[in-house]
Amino acid sequence: MRKKIIAGNWKMNATKDEAVTIVNGLIANYSDFGLSENKIVVVASPFPYIHYCASMFAKFPNLVAAAQNCSEFEKGAYTGEVSAEIIASLYVEYVIIGHSERRQYFKETDEQLLLKINQAQNHNLIPIFCVGETLETRDNNKHFEFVKEQLENAIFKVNENDIKNCVIAYEPIWAIGTGVTASPAQAQEMHAFIREQVSAKFNGETAKEMSILYGGSVNAANAAELFTCADIDGALVGGASLKVDDFSTIIKAMK
Ligand code: PGA
Repeated sequence: MRKKIIAGNWKMNATKDEAVTIVNGLIANYSDFGLSENKIVVVASPFPYIHYCASMFAKFPNLVAAAQNCSEFEKGAYTGEVSAEIIASLYVEYVIIGHSERRQYFKETDEQLLLKINQAQNHNLIPIFCVGETLETRDNNKHFEFVKEQLENAIFKVNENDIKNCVIAYEPIWAIGTGVTASPAQAQEMHAFIREQVSAKFNGETAKEMSILYGGSVNAANAAELFTCADIDGALVGGASLKVDDFSTIIKAMK
């Protein structure tokens, strides 16, 4: 059965004390979340806290830690990088790959993203692979073509077996951190398109099982409506994941 996933992406936010407050808050609210094997919460903190998050969540099934990035290299003299192997050794289960901020500010290329996906999967981390178009691309009505290319250039190069252990997040760049959310209809349309592409490239069963998350200004007020869409299996939440009450509301909005 396809998993519902609410993922928080703290980005480069939260001091240690703030991180502790968020983690304790989520644990305090845990029993209200209604988590199960099929509805999980993923928290992608900055690297210095991932071990802390993973340890704190260890007693809470289906509340799991994630990394926001991993190196495309296996190991060695790459100062400042963090490998998938290191991340996996900290009991972290997921890693965000190809976030638009990594593509834009750190110039990550499709080739690098594929290497990162391979690294993640070699170490049993589940990639949350992000795609999404700019406003200009959407205005030019090229958004489907653009997202298809992002899929084909990286995540679609894994094999039939490995694609089963991937999550895709659709995050239109114009909706990230802007307060402008894609309408449920816009999001649903793209999610259905992505699922169709997975089906065409791999097979219908894999497409049916794949979790496809929406990201971009998801908040406590708009989550419930987005989650009514047939092909939206959860959210990748930035700003609102730093506020325990708002993030908890979003988690509970996923039925
Ligand atoms: P946002 O970020 O919720 O703050 O728009 C989403 C994301 O970039 O993952």
